[in-house]
Amino acid sequence: MNEAKIALVTGANKGIGYEIAAGLGALGWTVGVGARDEQRRETAVAKLRAAGVDAFGVPLDVTDDASVTAAATLVSERAGRLDALVNNAGVTGGMPQQPTTVDLAAVRTAVETNVIGVLRVTNAMLPLLRRSASPRIVNMSSGVGSLTRQAGSLDERDTGPLSAAYSPSKTMLNAVTVQYAKELRDTGILINLACPGFVATDLNKFRGTRTPEQGAAIAVRLATLPDGGPTGGYFEDAGEIPW
Ligand SMILES: NC(=O)c1ccc[n+]([C@@H]2O[C@H](COP(=O)([O-])OP(=O)(O)OC[C@H]3O[C@@H](n4cnc5c(N)ncnc54)[C@H](OP(=O)(O)O)[C@@H]3O)[C@@H](O)[C@H]2O)c1
Repeated sequence: MNEAKIALVTGANKGIGYEIAAGLGALGWTVGVGARDEQRRETAVAKLRAAGVDAFGVPLDVTDDASVTAAATLVSERAGRLDALVNNAGVTGGMPQQPTTVDLAAVRTAVETNVIGVLRVTNAMLPLLRRSASPRIVNMSSGVGSLTRQAGSLDERDTGPLSAAYSPSKTMLNAVTVQYAKELRDTGILINLACPGFVATDLNKFRGTRTPEQGAAIAVRLATLPDGGPTGGYFEDAGEIPW
């Protein structure tokens, strides 16, 4: 069995996910680069390897049962276990977006990717995480999933643009993560939510004000928590986010 720590990052071909893979790789971790498109995946793996990271490609569409099952088999054969799973893959389903006129297909896509995809990948990877001495799960949420912030402000700097699909999908992801933390509380598996801040990526047509590397830092921190660290928490760089 590999002595290095092993991580799987979903949606790691670009944006924040790529930088999470790079950040864990820089710490000496072996990193599975989960990505659905072969060319984008192999380009990212090659770039990470050129930077000295022990990276391997993991074909992975989080919305597809067969793809996720095959990914778990590949990681098992390649690494034998998982020390950290970072559920980073996400889509917006369109923003800004008014609930009164929203295309319901956009809501379904956001929930299928951002919530059900996380359940699907997490449950498939749990047997591998249970083989780790210090398993960690990081779910990439967003501050826009905070109902306290959404209900307490009309300022887009607090809430993001109006959204019927994306922000509610992150609120549901938060709720699901709390349920996992409760079920897994006696297992040693720490599961937390990360908000990267407003990061310049494809997701927001590069309007974000932070770099992907800055956005990745909170996820890297939560993926490398020491034993006894928090679980069921919702964090950004500045600390805990109100629910
Ligand atoms: N950017 C921000 O300001 C911000 C703020 C808060 C939270 N976040 C969260 O951070 C995470 C990363 O976002 P980002 O800003 O880095 O966006 P991004 O550059 O658009 O990257 C999204 C990643 O998710 C992948 N993905 C989407 N659907 C997938 C699927 N069905 N299966 C597998 N991979 C899939 C994409 O792959 P393809 O290349 O194949 O599309 C891509 O690798 C998301 O969960 C997002 O909600 C971002």
